[in-house]
Amino acid sequence: MTRLPAHVAIVMDGNGRWAKMRNKPRLFGHNEGMEALIKIVRAASDIGISYLTVYAFSTENWKRPLEEVSGIFRLLLVYIERELAELHRNNVKLRILGDWKNLDPAVVKTLENALETTKDNTGLQFCIALNYGGRNELVHSVRALAEKAAAGELKPEEITEEMISQNLYAPDVPDPDLVIRTSGEIRLSNFLLWQSAYSELVFTDVLWPDFTPECLEKAITEYQSRSRLFGGARS
Ligand code: IPE
Ligand code: IPE
Ligand code: MG
Repeated sequence: MTRLPAHVAIVMDGNGRWAKMRNKPRLFGHNEGMEALIKIVRAASDIGISYLTVYAFSTENWKRPLEEVSGIFRLLLVYIERELAELHRNNVKLRILGDWKNLDPAVVKTLENALETTKDNTGLQFCIALNYGGRNELVHSVRALAEKAAAGELKPEEITEEMISQNLYAPDVPDPDLVIRTSGEIRLSNFLLWQSAYSELVFTDVLWPDFTPECLEKAITEYQSRSRLFGGARS
């Protein structure tokens, strides 16, 4: 494939509706969503994408019933434990974006182990946005700069876009070239607000558990047909 996006980010939406259509509990949909995700990580790595970021749990998702929230985190643990060896074998480096260190200690422990295991891998960087909010991320960045300013190490007029970027959760990860959202919802829902300034957006009606590697390839083909201008003149 030519002109491959280096960084693909996905809002994995539609698990609940997928389950509802089958008269199953919402968690059944989240479970199928994890199965879809595993195949997409493999496909992204095979295609040669460098960074894949997926939105797994937002800072707003705490509004959901406790049973669903704890079920989502339980599924995440089960899948990370089940898939870690294969991710590692495939040279995948796991990253977590968001306020994850205050989550349940069992979740934190599993994540820390997975991060440690894969930290030297040089293949696909697989970033999970967990307890993530784009506004929250910006608040963290701005606070870090304000602390420097308050300590007299930085003058407000010296603050640049680059400095805000450098204080986000994963400063070394380039902005997403392509952001995909499934399930027919046409919004960002607080995902990568700063980083998606010039991302190409692709929306599909496919519900996340039905999103296959072919759907990913289709989204990439759509991306490849776009003219990215970044504010410049059309040639
Ligand atoms: C996305 O699926 C997964 C998470 C937000 C964790 P939803 O659970 O939002 O599915 P719908 O939107 O209700 O169908
Ligand atoms: C966005 O989906 C968050 C994740 C996919 C984790 P939501 O289903 O929570 O978003 P809204 O509520 O439809 O905007
Ligand atoms: Mg949803």
